[in-house]
Amino acid sequence: MKPIKIKEGIYWVGGIDWDLRNFHGYLTQRGSTYNSYLIIDKKITLIDNVKYYLAEELIDRISAIIDPSKIDYIVQNHIEMDHTGSLTNMKKICPNAKLFASPKGVEGLQKHFKRNWEFQVVKSGDVLKLGKRSLHFVQTPMVHWPDNMVSYCPEEKILFSNDAFGQHIASSERFDDEYPFNIMMHEAEKYYANIVLPYGTQVQKALEIVGGLDIEIICPSHGLIWRSRIPEIIKEYKKWSANEVDKKAIIIYDTMWKSTEKIAYKIQEAFEEKNYKTRMFNLQHNHISDIMTEILTAKYICVGSPTLNNNILPTVSAFLTYLKGLAPKNRIGLAFGSYGWGGQSIGIVENTLKECGFEMLEQIKLQYIPEEELLEKAKDKLARLIVSN
Ligand code: FEO
Repeated sequence: MKPIKIKEGIYWVGGIDWDLRNFHGYLTQRGSTYNSYLIIDKKITLIDNVKYYLAEELIDRISAIIDPSKIDYIVQNHIEMDHTGSLTNMKKICPNAKLFASPKGVEGLQKHFKRNWEFQVVKSGDVLKLGKRSLHFVQTPMVHWPDNMVSYCPEEKILFSNDAFGQHIASSERFDDEYPFNIMMHEAEKYYANIVLPYGTQVQKALEIVGGLDIEIICPSHGLIWRSRIPEIIKEYKKWSANEVDKKAIIIYDTMWKSTEKIAYKIQEAFEEKNYKTRMFNLQHNHISDIMTEILTAKYICVGSPTLNNNILPTVSAFLTYLKGLAPKNRIGLAFGSYGWGGQSIGIVENTLKECGFEMLEQIKLQYIPEEELLEKAKDKLARLIVSN
């Protein structure tokens, strides 16, 4: 297990989760990493831990540099279990290492581990002297837990950003200029859409602070380290956190006998006629976390379900629950579907999209197998309602 040198005396010593495919409901087709960083200075400091089953990997990587028992400080930028799972293992090896976390971080660690460890609460503006280097702490609450903070080392111009700017990618490469950049950006986008999206306002506050720092390297807690493409990721975070959208429409549906699907394809045609980029997602074949990646920058969100037992199909229900929780803003919604007799599904979808805060287009509700003439009429009506830009 090789550590990776970031700068003289600063190393990546994290764990690589090659097999991870589900991160609390988010499909992680490329696995992930839990990034820990070791700073060799007068006070030897570990920043963040790894998931519990990768503790040995972390310890092996540290051992390739120093005796892990010599660690003086452990900084937990965040207390979610993917970054604290190995903390008990580390504290066994270096029982005297002092733990640093935000106020909510210390509270969470105490509640979670129930150990009599030595903690020090740190807040925005606090500075921890390590020797020739220092760590400056900035609290970034709700990006994406209340305890989150980032640590900045001005002497090295490195920001240890924890979850912010992360991507779920397992790889032996550690830097943005070593890995296919379009894949990295796609995974950063998926990460934002599925983890960070509800907290745009807090992200913007964090970006303001980060904007005032002189940064050469951003070390996130998942995926690759940013050193060559920092302006690109900052630009995208500004766009995503402002809920800025593209001229793009997403059509999401499930279908029983392909009648709702017929409507979905007509909707797609209407947007195509108005020169929108479109994406179709049949919920039988697409994961909700992949759909969210596209929704992140979509102006229109169209959701369809036929009526089943006076309700919507369970796949559509799961998707809407997930969408509502992630709370994209400034979007326009459209509910559609076919029905045999009751037809309640369209209203249920519409109400949920309204609860998301979306402005709504007039619903499309067609009985039985919709005839081509009716479909064309619905398409033309919709095309007239779609805004050109
Ligand atoms: Fe990567 Fe919020 O944990």
